[in-house]
Amino acid sequence: MDNQQHKIGSNEYAVQVHGVIKSFGSGDAKTVALKGVDFDARQGELLMIVGPSGCGKTTLLSVIAGTLAFDAGKVNVFGNPLHAMSKSETTLFRGKNIGFIFQQFNLIPTLSCVENVSVPLLINGATRAAAEKKATEVLEVVGLKGRENERPTNLSGGQQQRVAIARSLVHEPRLIICDEPTSALDKDNGAKIMELLREIARAPDRCVIVVSHDNRIYHFADRMTEMEDGKVQRVHETYKPVNFKDQ
Ligand SMILES: Nc1ncnc2c1ncn2[C@@H]1O[C@H](COP(=O)(O)OP(=O)(O)O)[C@@H](O)[C@H]1O
Ligand SMILES: [Mg+2]
Repeated sequence: MDNQQHKIGSNEYAVQVHGVIKSFGSGDAKTVALKGVDFDARQGELLMIVGPSGCGKTTLLSVIAGTLAFDAGKVNVFGNPLHAMSKSETTLFRGKNIGFIFQQFNLIPTLSCVENVSVPLLINGATRAAAEKKATEVLEVVGLKGRENERPTNLSGGQQQRVAIARSLVHEPRLIICDEPTSALDKDNGAKIMELLREIARAPDRCVIVVSHDNRIYHFADRMTEMEDGKVQRVHETYKPVNFKDQ
């Protein structure tokens, strides 16, 4: 499993999903959440996934993130086959390469902002001093300089989501996965978060995938994938490839 062997270029995929099936429960209570999903996300893009509640968006994100085992199919993330990795390999891969942003922020209320943002670095083996130094820098990038030592509960919703974004970025993951990241925010804060995410996505070895119900932010997407009833129904190609060779 060597990330460095993966060649970088505008046609390279960050995520490739083929024929993924995932069901929950059994017998009468069985729900097939993913019914043979084919999906891709490219390096350098912000890809949005839209679709009605219950169509399988969160399940697909969990599969891509390696937090949910699936019944059949293949999932490659930056050329690494999650379907062929052991649970511990997947956990290690996720810790290094994937960041998450959730609808409800999922910050730890008893920790300060800088401590919350340090968590992914500590998981990857950094010392506390090094982790807090880096976390402080990233909090500044998301516009929270001076709030480092506050508890998240003292901040507004928009500021809390910025802390969550800082936490998802701090270990410089190549893939950031966001499940309804703006649904708890007003229009202006939602737009600011999306601008930040789009900026982060625009690099040859990065990708941001955003699930959203929020049509106020659709125009931030480079491409849109529509899901319905456990399948990808269509992809809107509005993406203009960046010529990374010129950068
Ligand atoms: N842990 C679970 N146990 C049982 N059913 C689940 C579970 N997670 C999701 N489902 C079901 O799978 C389907 C897809 O859910 P989900 O991926 O959460 O949809 P979405 O995020 O698009 O709203 C739904 O029918 C949901 O009830
Ligand atoms: Mg969901």
